[in-house]
Amino acid sequence: MAEEYKLPRGTQDFLPETCDKLEYIENTLKNMAGLYGYHEIRTPIFEHTNLFLRSVGESSDIVNKEMYTFLDKGGRSITLRPEGTAGVMRAFVENKMYALPDTPIKLFYDGSVFRYERPGAGRYRQITQFGFECLGVHSPLIDAELILMNCAMLYTLGVKDFVIKVNTIGDVQSRENYKVELREYFKDHLDELCEDCRRRYEQNPLRILDCKIDGDKDLVKNAPIIKDYLTEESKAYFEKLLSYLDKFEVPYEVDNRLVRGLDYYCDTVFEIKCKTPDGKDYGAIGAGGRYDGLIEQVGGPHTPGIGMAFGVERLLLLLESYNFFEGYYNTFDAYIMPIGKECLDFAFDITMFLRSNGFKAECEVQGKSMKSFFKSVERQKVPFAIIVGEDEIKNRVCNVKNTLTKEQVTISLDELCTYLNKELNKIYQRSSCSGECNGNCSCE
Ligand code: HAM
Repeated sequence: MAEEYKLPRGTQDFLPETCDKLEYIENTLKNMAGLYGYHEIRTPIFEHTNLFLRSVGESSDIVNKEMYTFLDKGGRSITLRPEGTAGVMRAFVENKMYALPDTPIKLFYDGSVFRYERPGAGRYRQITQFGFECLGVHSPLIDAELILMNCAMLYTLGVKDFVIKVNTIGDVQSRENYKVELREYFKDHLDELCEDCRRRYEQNPLRILDCKIDGDKDLVKNAPIIKDYLTEESKAYFEKLLSYLDKFEVPYEVDNRLVRGLDYYCDTVFEIKCKTPDGKDYGAIGAGGRYDGLIEQVGGPHTPGIGMAFGVERLLLLLESYNFFEGYYNTFDAYIMPIGKECLDFAFDITMFLRSNGFKAECEVQGKSMKSFFKSVERQKVPFAIIVGEDEIKNRVCNVKNTLTKEQVTISLDELCTYLNKELNKIYQRSSCSGECNGNCSCE
Protein backbone atom coordinates (compact mmCIF):
# COMPACT_ATOMS: atom_id res chain seq x y z
CA MET A 1 0.00 0.00 0.00
CA ALA A 2 1.28 3.47 -0.85
CA GLU A 3 2.70 5.27 2.19
CA GLU A 4 0.26 8.15 1.78
CA TYR A 5 -2.76 5.86 2.32
CA LYS A 6 -1.40 4.19 5.41
CA LEU A 7 -2.46 4.70 9.00
CA PRO A 8 -1.21 8.08 10.28
CA ARG A 9 1.54 7.80 12.90
CA GLY A 10 0.30 7.45 16.45
CA THR A 11 -3.12 6.10 15.47
CA GLN A 12 -4.43 2.53 15.54
CA ASP A 13 -7.07 0.37 13.87
CA PHE A 14 -9.00 -1.60 16.45
CA LEU A 15 -10.16 -4.86 14.91
CA PRO A 16 -13.21 -6.72 16.29
CA GLU A 17 -11.28 -8.81 18.82
CA THR A 18 -9.74 -5.68 20.36
CA CYS A 19 -13.04 -3.80 20.24
CA ASP A 20 -14.57 -6.53 22.40
CA LYS A 21 -11.82 -5.99 24.96
CA LEU A 22 -12.23 -2.22 24.85
CA GLU A 23 -15.95 -2.64 25.30
CA TYR A 24 -15.35 -4.79 28.37
CA ILE A 25 -13.06 -2.13 29.87
CA GLU A 26 -15.43 0.72 29.07
CA ASN A 27 -18.49 -1.13 30.37
CA THR A 28 -16.71 -1.95 33.60
CA LEU A 29 -15.80 1.71 34.12
CA LYS A 30 -19.28 2.83 33.19
CA ASN A 31 -21.03 0.41 35.55
CA MET A 32 -18.81 1.39 38.45
CA ALA A 33 -19.27 5.11 37.66
CA GLY A 34 -23.03 4.53 37.95
CA LEU A 35 -22.59 3.18 41.49
CA TYR A 36 -20.81 6.41 42.43
CA GLY A 37 -23.53 8.63 40.94
CA TYR A 38 -21.85 9.66 37.67
CA HIS A 39 -23.87 10.37 34.51
CA GLU A 40 -22.61 10.58 30.98
CA ILE A 41 -21.94 13.80 29.12
CA ARG A 42 -20.97 14.05 25.44
CA THR A 43 -19.29 17.15 24.09
CA PRO A 44 -17.88 17.91 20.62
CA ILE A 45 -14.57 16.47 19.49
CA PHE A 46 -13.49 19.96 18.42
CA GLU A 47 -13.83 23.27 20.21
CA HIS A 48 -12.65 26.84 19.71
CA THR A 49 -8.89 26.91 20.25
CA ASN A 50 -9.20 29.67 22.86
CA LEU A 51 -11.01 27.30 25.22
CA PHE A 52 -7.89 25.17 25.55
CA LEU A 53 -5.55 28.17 25.76
CA ARG A 54 -7.64 29.48 28.62
CA SER A 55 -8.11 26.20 30.53
CA VAL A 56 -5.34 23.69 29.83
CA GLY A 57 -3.08 26.72 29.80
CA GLU A 58 -0.50 28.43 27.63
CA SER A 59 2.40 27.14 29.71
CA SER A 60 1.44 23.48 29.19
CA ASP A 61 3.16 21.25 26.62
CA ILE A 62 -0.27 20.26 25.36
CA VAL A 63 -1.12 23.79 24.27
CA ASN A 64 2.39 24.71 23.20
CA LYS A 65 3.30 21.75 21.09
CA GLU A 66 0.66 19.09 20.87
CA MET A 67 -2.63 20.52 19.64
CA TYR A 68 -4.20 19.70 16.28
CA THR A 69 -5.28 23.21 15.40
CA PHE A 70 -6.65 24.47 12.08
CA LEU A 71 -8.72 27.24 10.60
CA ASP A 72 -12.15 26.10 9.49
CA LYS A 73 -13.70 27.36 6.25
CA GLY A 74 -15.13 30.30 8.18
CA GLY A 75 -11.65 31.31 9.34
CA ARG A 76 -12.21 30.27 12.98
CA SER A 77 -9.37 28.68 14.89
CA ILE A 78 -10.54 25.20 15.83
CA THR A 79 -8.72 22.53 17.84
CA LEU A 80 -9.35 18.79 18.12
CA ARG A 81 -9.78 18.35 21.87
CA PRO A 82 -6.46 17.37 23.46
CA GLU A 83 -8.27 16.26 26.66
CA GLY A 84 -11.83 16.02 27.92
CA THR A 85 -12.05 18.37 30.91
CA ALA A 86 -12.09 21.72 29.09
CA GLY A 87 -15.07 20.79 26.87
CA VAL A 88 -17.01 19.47 29.86
CA MET A 89 -16.37 22.73 31.74
CA ARG A 90 -17.54 24.74 28.72
CA ALA A 91 -20.70 22.63 28.49
CA PHE A 92 -21.26 23.00 32.24
CA VAL A 93 -21.16 26.79 31.95
CA GLU A 94 -22.96 27.10 28.62
CA ASN A 95 -25.82 24.87 29.77
CA LYS A 96 -25.95 26.63 33.16
CA MET A 97 -25.44 23.37 34.96
CA TYR A 98 -24.04 25.40 37.86
CA ALA A 99 -27.66 26.37 38.61
CA LEU A 100 -28.67 22.76 39.23
CA PRO A 101 -29.68 22.49 42.86
CA ASP A 102 -28.21 19.12 43.72
CA THR A 103 -24.45 19.11 44.04
CA PRO A 104 -22.04 17.56 43.48
CA ILE A 105 -22.73 17.16 39.79
CA LYS A 106 -20.89 14.08 38.63
CA LEU A 107 -20.18 13.60 34.94
CA PHE A 108 -18.31 10.99 32.95
CA TYR A 109 -17.23 10.86 29.31
CA ASP A 110 -15.60 8.37 27.01
CA GLY A 111 -14.07 9.54 23.77
CA SER A 112 -11.12 10.35 21.58
CA VAL A 113 -8.65 13.10 22.33
CA PHE A 114 -5.76 14.13 20.08
CA ARG A 115 -2.20 15.11 20.93
CA TYR A 116 0.71 15.55 18.56
CA GLU A 117 3.13 13.61 20.78
CA ARG A 118 6.08 11.46 19.74
CA PRO A 119 4.47 8.03 19.33
CA GLY A 120 6.01 5.23 21.38
CA ALA A 121 5.08 2.29 23.62
CA GLY A 122 1.72 3.27 25.11
CA ARG A 123 1.94 6.77 23.60
CA TYR A 124 -0.42 7.64 20.79
CA ARG A 125 -1.73 10.67 18.94
CA GLN A 126 -5.36 9.59 19.10
CA ILE A 127 -6.20 8.47 22.62
CA THR A 128 -9.42 7.26 24.23
CA GLN A 129 -9.94 8.96 27.55
CA PHE A 130 -12.54 7.71 30.00
CA GLY A 131 -12.87 10.65 32.36
CA PHE A 132 -14.82 11.82 35.40
CA GLU A 133 -15.57 15.32 36.61
CA CYS A 134 -17.19 16.03 39.97
CA LEU A 135 -18.34 19.63 40.31
CA GLY A 136 -19.69 21.81 43.07
CA VAL A 137 -17.98 20.54 46.23
CA HIS A 138 -14.61 21.39 47.77
CA SER A 139 -13.87 18.61 50.24
CA PRO A 140 -11.07 16.14 50.83
CA LEU A 141 -13.74 13.47 51.14
CA ILE A 142 -14.82 14.11 47.54
CA ASP A 143 -11.17 13.82 46.42
CA ALA A 144 -10.85 10.57 48.36
CA GLU A 145 -14.10 9.29 46.87
CA LEU A 146 -12.82 9.82 43.31
CA ILE A 147 -9.60 7.96 44.11
CA LEU A 148 -11.58 5.18 45.83
CA MET A 149 -13.78 4.86 42.76
CA ASN A 150 -10.66 4.57 40.58
CA CYS A 151 -9.32 1.82 42.83
CA ALA A 152 -12.64 -0.04 42.70
CA MET A 153 -12.55 0.21 38.91
CA LEU A 154 -9.04 -1.17 38.68
CA TYR A 155 -9.77 -4.01 41.10
CA THR A 156 -12.89 -4.92 39.14
CA LEU A 157 -10.91 -4.88 35.90
CA GLY A 158 -8.41 -7.25 37.51
CA VAL A 159 -5.54 -4.73 37.88
CA LYS A 160 -3.99 -5.19 41.30
CA ASP A 161 -0.40 -3.97 41.40
CA PHE A 162 -0.97 -0.27 40.93
CA VAL A 163 0.04 2.69 43.00
CA ILE A 164 -1.57 6.11 43.20
CA LYS A 165 1.07 8.82 43.28
CA VAL A 166 -0.53 11.72 45.08
CA ASN A 167 0.55 15.24 45.92
CA THR A 168 -0.83 18.66 46.63
CA ILE A 169 0.15 21.73 44.66
CA GLY A 170 -1.71 23.89 47.16
CA ASP A 171 -4.09 26.77 46.75
CA VAL A 172 -3.35 29.94 44.74
CA GLN A 173 -1.40 31.52 47.61
CA SER A 174 0.72 28.38 48.17
CA ARG A 175 1.60 28.25 44.49
CA GLU A 176 2.44 31.95 44.34
CA ASN A 177 4.83 31.50 47.32
CA TYR A 178 6.31 28.44 45.65
CA LYS A 179 6.75 30.08 42.24
CA VAL A 180 8.73 32.93 43.83
CA GLU A 181 10.99 30.36 45.48
CA LEU A 182 11.41 28.32 42.29
CA ARG A 183 12.32 31.40 40.25
CA GLU A 184 14.86 32.34 42.88
CA TYR A 185 16.30 28.79 42.81
CA PHE A 186 16.61 28.55 39.02
CA LYS A 187 17.61 32.19 38.49
CA ASP A 188 21.35 31.53 38.24
CA HIS A 189 20.98 28.26 36.32
CA LEU A 190 18.93 29.29 33.33
CA ASP A 191 21.70 28.35 30.92
CA GLU A 192 21.56 24.77 32.26
CA LEU A 193 17.88 24.47 31.31
CA CYS A 194 16.44 23.54 27.93
CA GLU A 195 14.87 26.21 25.74
CA ASP A 196 11.35 25.17 26.80
CA CYS A 197 12.24 25.40 30.47
CA ARG A 198 13.62 28.89 29.99
CA ARG A 199 10.18 29.84 28.66
CA ARG A 200 8.55 27.92 31.52
CA TYR A 201 10.67 29.86 33.98
CA GLU A 202 8.83 33.00 32.90
CA GLN A 203 5.37 31.55 32.31
CA ASN A 204 5.04 28.95 35.07
CA PRO A 205 8.18 27.57 36.75
CA LEU A 206 6.22 24.56 38.12
CA ARG A 207 6.30 23.18 34.59
CA ILE A 208 10.11 22.86 34.81
CA LEU A 209 9.63 20.08 37.36
CA ASP A 210 7.93 17.72 34.92
CA CYS A 211 10.04 18.59 31.86
CA LYS A 212 10.79 15.48 29.82
CA ILE A 213 14.35 16.76 29.14
CA ASP A 214 15.39 18.52 32.35
CA GLY A 215 13.19 16.56 34.79
CA ASP A 216 15.92 14.03 35.58
CA LYS A 217 18.74 16.54 36.12
CA ASP A 218 20.03 16.95 39.68
CA LEU A 219 19.36 20.65 39.38
CA VAL A 220 15.64 19.95 38.98
CA LYS A 221 15.58 17.05 41.43
CA ASN A 222 17.10 19.26 44.13
CA ALA A 223 14.69 22.11 43.55
CA PRO A 224 12.55 23.25 46.51
CA ILE A 225 9.34 21.22 46.98
CA ILE A 226 5.87 22.70 47.27
CA LYS A 227 5.26 20.97 50.61
CA ASP A 228 7.38 23.64 52.30
CA TYR A 229 5.34 26.52 50.87
CA LEU A 230 1.79 25.36 51.55
CA THR A 231 -0.65 27.56 53.41
CA GLU A 232 -2.04 26.05 56.62
CA GLU A 233 -5.36 25.48 54.87
CA SER A 234 -3.83 23.54 51.97
CA LYS A 235 -1.69 21.51 54.34
CA ALA A 236 -4.72 20.54 56.46
CA TYR A 237 -6.74 19.69 53.34
CA PHE A 238 -4.05 17.33 52.07
CA GLU A 239 -3.58 15.68 55.47
CA LYS A 240 -7.30 15.03 55.69
CA LEU A 241 -7.25 13.47 52.21
CA LEU A 242 -4.35 11.20 53.19
CA SER A 243 -6.21 10.15 56.35
CA TYR A 244 -9.12 8.96 54.18
CA LEU A 245 -6.77 7.13 51.83
CA ASP A 246 -5.21 5.41 54.87
CA LYS A 247 -8.60 4.53 56.29
CA PHE A 248 -9.67 2.83 53.05
CA GLU A 249 -6.26 1.21 52.52
CA VAL A 250 -5.64 2.85 49.17
CA PRO A 251 -2.28 1.82 47.69
CA TYR A 252 -0.82 5.32 47.47
CA GLU A 253 2.53 7.09 47.74
CA VAL A 254 3.03 10.78 48.33
CA ASP A 255 5.19 12.11 45.50
CA ASN A 256 6.39 15.57 46.50
CA ARG A 257 7.53 16.29 42.95
CA LEU A 258 4.28 15.49 41.18
CA VAL A 259 2.92 18.72 39.65
CA ARG A 260 1.02 17.50 36.51
CA GLY A 261 1.31 19.07 33.08
CA LEU A 262 -1.95 21.01 32.87
CA ASP A 263 -2.34 24.52 34.28
CA TYR A 264 -5.78 24.24 35.81
CA TYR A 265 -4.92 22.14 38.84
CA CYS A 266 -4.85 23.21 42.48
CA ASP A 267 -4.50 21.27 45.75
CA THR A 268 -4.87 17.52 45.09
CA VAL A 269 -3.10 15.99 42.07
CA PHE A 270 -2.58 12.30 41.37
CA GLU A 271 -1.39 9.78 38.81
CA ILE A 272 -2.01 6.05 38.70
CA LYS A 273 1.05 4.00 37.87
CA CYS A 274 1.26 0.32 37.11
CA LYS A 275 3.91 -1.85 35.51
CA THR A 276 3.30 -4.93 33.39
CA PRO A 277 4.43 -8.31 34.82
CA ASP A 278 7.61 -8.06 32.72
CA GLY A 279 8.39 -4.61 34.12
CA LYS A 280 7.22 -2.42 31.21
CA ASP A 281 5.97 1.00 32.17
CA TYR A 282 3.57 2.53 29.67
CA GLY A 283 3.26 5.73 31.71
CA ALA A 284 0.33 6.69 33.93
CA ILE A 285 -2.82 4.68 33.24
CA GLY A 286 -4.88 7.52 34.63
CA ALA A 287 -4.40 10.90 36.23
CA GLY A 288 -6.23 13.91 37.52
CA GLY A 289 -6.63 16.50 40.19
CA ARG A 290 -8.63 19.35 41.67
CA TYR A 291 -9.37 22.50 39.65
CA ASP A 292 -11.31 24.96 41.82
CA GLY A 293 -10.70 27.98 39.56
CA LEU A 294 -11.41 26.40 36.18
CA ILE A 295 -15.12 27.09 35.83
CA GLU A 296 -14.46 30.79 36.48
CA GLN A 297 -11.70 30.76 33.88
CA VAL A 298 -14.14 29.61 31.22
CA GLY A 299 -16.72 32.21 32.23
CA GLY A 300 -18.88 30.59 34.93
CA PRO A 301 -19.41 31.32 38.61
CA HIS A 302 -16.92 29.99 41.17
CA THR A 303 -17.45 26.22 41.25
CA PRO A 304 -14.94 23.86 42.79
CA GLY A 305 -14.23 20.61 41.02
CA ILE A 306 -12.07 17.55 40.75
CA GLY A 307 -11.66 14.97 38.02
CA MET A 308 -9.46 12.42 36.37
CA ALA A 309 -9.19 10.44 33.16
CA PHE A 310 -8.04 6.93 32.38
CA GLY A 311 -6.15 6.26 29.16
CA VAL A 312 -8.20 3.35 27.81
CA GLU A 313 -5.47 2.10 25.42
CA ARG A 314 -3.00 1.92 28.31
CA LEU A 315 -5.52 -0.06 30.39
CA LEU A 316 -5.87 -2.41 27.43
CA LEU A 317 -2.09 -2.89 27.12
CA LEU A 318 -1.90 -3.60 30.83
CA LEU A 319 -4.71 -6.15 30.86
CA GLU A 320 -3.28 -7.83 27.78
CA SER A 321 0.11 -8.06 29.48
CA TYR A 322 -1.58 -9.97 32.33
CA ASN A 323 -3.09 -12.34 29.71
CA PHE A 324 -6.36 -11.22 31.20
CA PHE A 325 -8.24 -11.79 27.98
CA GLU A 326 -6.90 -15.28 27.40
CA GLY A 327 -9.98 -17.28 26.42
CA TYR A 328 -12.16 -14.19 26.89
CA TYR A 329 -12.85 -13.38 23.31
CA ASN A 330 -15.17 -15.54 21.31
CA THR A 331 -17.13 -14.70 18.25
CA PHE A 332 -20.12 -16.78 19.40
CA ASP A 333 -21.32 -18.53 22.54
CA ALA A 334 -22.57 -21.43 20.49
CA TYR A 335 -22.03 -22.66 16.94
CA ILE A 336 -24.74 -24.98 15.64
CA MET A 337 -23.91 -27.73 13.18
CA PRO A 338 -26.55 -29.67 11.25
CA ILE A 339 -25.61 -33.20 10.22
CA GLY A 340 -26.77 -33.15 6.64
CA LYS A 341 -28.98 -30.80 4.61
CA GLU A 342 -32.20 -32.24 6.10
CA CYS A 343 -31.25 -30.95 9.53
CA LEU A 344 -30.34 -27.42 8.43
CA ASP A 345 -33.75 -25.84 9.09
CA PHE A 346 -33.94 -27.32 12.58
CA ALA A 347 -30.37 -26.15 13.31
CA PHE A 348 -31.32 -22.68 12.11
CA ASP A 349 -34.44 -22.72 14.33
CA ILE A 350 -32.25 -23.53 17.34
CA THR A 351 -29.88 -20.71 16.38
CA MET A 352 -32.76 -18.21 16.21
CA PHE A 353 -34.18 -19.58 19.48
CA LEU A 354 -30.80 -19.06 21.21
CA ARG A 355 -30.42 -15.55 19.80
CA SER A 356 -33.89 -14.60 20.99
CA ASN A 357 -32.80 -15.75 24.43
CA GLY A 358 -29.74 -13.52 24.43
CA PHE A 359 -27.02 -15.91 23.26
CA LYS A 360 -24.53 -15.13 20.52
CA ALA A 361 -25.28 -18.03 18.20
CA GLU A 362 -24.28 -18.93 14.66
CA CYS A 363 -25.53 -21.67 12.35
CA GLU A 364 -23.27 -23.54 9.94
CA VAL A 365 -25.06 -23.11 6.62
CA GLN A 366 -22.38 -23.99 4.09
CA GLY A 367 -22.48 -27.79 4.37
CA LYS A 368 -19.06 -28.02 6.02
CA SER A 369 -17.68 -31.40 7.04
CA MET A 370 -17.60 -32.17 10.76
CA LYS A 371 -13.82 -31.84 10.67
CA SER A 372 -13.79 -28.40 9.12
CA PHE A 373 -16.66 -27.30 11.41
CA PHE A 374 -14.61 -28.20 14.50
CA LYS A 375 -11.53 -26.49 13.07
CA SER A 376 -13.59 -23.33 12.70
CA VAL A 377 -14.96 -23.75 16.26
CA GLU A 378 -11.41 -24.00 17.55
CA ARG A 379 -10.11 -21.06 15.53
CA GLN A 380 -12.92 -18.85 16.74
CA LYS A 381 -12.70 -20.13 20.35
CA VAL A 382 -16.43 -20.90 20.45
CA PRO A 383 -17.13 -22.44 23.87
CA PHE A 384 -20.11 -24.56 22.76
CA ALA A 385 -20.56 -26.64 19.62
CA ILE A 386 -24.12 -27.88 19.19
CA ILE A 387 -24.70 -30.80 16.86
CA VAL A 388 -28.13 -31.65 15.44
CA GLY A 389 -28.84 -34.81 13.50
CA GLU A 390 -32.03 -36.69 12.70
CA ASP A 391 -32.12 -38.45 16.09
CA GLU A 392 -31.87 -35.13 17.89
CA ILE A 393 -34.71 -33.69 15.82
CA LYS A 394 -36.88 -36.72 16.55
CA ASN A 395 -36.26 -36.54 20.30
CA ARG A 396 -36.24 -32.71 20.49
CA VAL A 397 -32.78 -32.68 22.04
CA CYS A 398 -29.37 -31.48 20.95
CA ASN A 399 -25.85 -32.59 21.48
CA VAL A 400 -23.77 -29.92 23.23
CA LYS A 401 -20.00 -30.09 23.37
CA ASN A 402 -18.10 -27.84 25.76
CA THR A 403 -14.99 -27.14 23.70
CA LEU A 404 -12.94 -26.11 26.75
CA THR A 405 -13.62 -29.15 28.97
CA LYS A 406 -14.41 -31.47 26.01
CA GLU A 407 -17.50 -32.64 27.92
CA GLN A 408 -20.40 -33.68 25.74
CA VAL A 409 -24.02 -33.83 26.92
CA THR A 410 -27.40 -34.41 25.35
CA ILE A 411 -29.81 -31.71 26.48
CA SER A 412 -33.51 -31.28 25.82
CA LEU A 413 -34.39 -28.07 24.03
CA ASP A 414 -36.36 -26.93 27.07
CA GLU A 415 -33.24 -27.06 29.19
CA LEU A 416 -30.76 -25.75 26.64
CA CYS A 417 -30.83 -22.06 27.66
CA THR A 418 -30.52 -22.78 31.38
CA TYR A 419 -27.65 -25.14 30.73
CA LEU A 420 -25.75 -22.71 28.49
CA ASN A 421 -26.29 -19.83 30.89
CA LYS A 422 -24.88 -21.76 33.80
CA GLU A 423 -21.88 -23.01 31.88
CA LEU A 424 -21.12 -19.64 30.26
CA ASN A 425 -21.25 -17.96 33.67
CA LYS A 426 -18.60 -20.35 34.87
CA ILE A 427 -16.40 -19.54 31.88
CA TYR A 428 -16.75 -15.75 31.90
CA GLN A 429 -16.83 -15.09 35.61
CA ARG A 430 -13.78 -17.19 36.14
CA SER A 431 -11.88 -14.66 34.06
CA SER A 432 -13.59 -11.45 35.16
CA CYS A 433 -13.81 -11.93 38.93
CA SER A 434 -11.25 -9.75 40.69
CA GLY A 435 -10.96 -12.17 43.57
CA GLU A 436 -12.50 -9.46 45.78
CA CYS A 437 -16.05 -10.69 45.29
CA ASN A 438 -16.53 -11.89 48.90
CA GLY A 439 -18.67 -14.65 47.49
CA ASN A 440 -20.99 -12.18 45.78
CA CYS A 441 -20.37 -13.52 42.31
CA SER A 442 -20.55 -17.06 41.08
CA CYS A 443 -16.82 -17.63 40.62
CA GLU A 444 -15.59 -20.78 42.28
P1 HAM B 1 -3.63 13.60 31.36
O1 HAM B 1 -2.71 13.14 32.42
O2 HAM B 1 -3.07 14.50 30.35
O3 HAM B 1 -4.85 14.29 32.09
O4 HAM B 1 -4.26 12.36 30.62
C1 HAM B 1 -4.99 11.38 31.33
C2 HAM B 1 -4.56 9.99 30.88
O5 HAM B 1 -4.70 9.87 29.47
C3 HAM B 1 -3.10 9.65 31.16
O6 HAM B 1 -2.90 9.24 32.49
C4 HAM B 1 -2.87 8.53 30.18
O7 HAM B 1 -3.35 7.31 30.68
C5 HAM B 1 -3.74 8.94 28.99
N1 HAM B 1 -2.88 9.59 27.98
C6 HAM B 1 -2.53 10.87 27.90
N2 HAM B 1 -1.75 11.10 26.81
C7 HAM B 1 -1.59 9.89 26.21
C8 HAM B 1 -0.92 9.44 25.04
N3 HAM B 1 -0.24 10.28 24.24
N4 HAM B 1 -1.01 8.13 24.70
C9 HAM B 1 -1.71 7.26 25.47
N5 HAM B 1 -2.38 7.63 26.58
C10 HAM B 1 -2.32 8.93 26.95
C11 HAM B 1 -5.89 14.84 31.41
O8 HAM B 1 -6.06 14.77 30.23
C12 HAM B 1 -6.88 15.52 32.34
N6 HAM B 1 -7.96 16.10 31.49
C13 HAM B 1 -7.45 14.55 33.35
C14 HAM B 1 -8.42 15.22 34.25
C15 HAM B 1 -9.76 15.10 34.20
N7 HAM B 1 -8.10 16.07 35.21
C16 HAM B 1 -9.22 16.50 35.78
N8 HAM B 1 -10.23 15.94 35.16
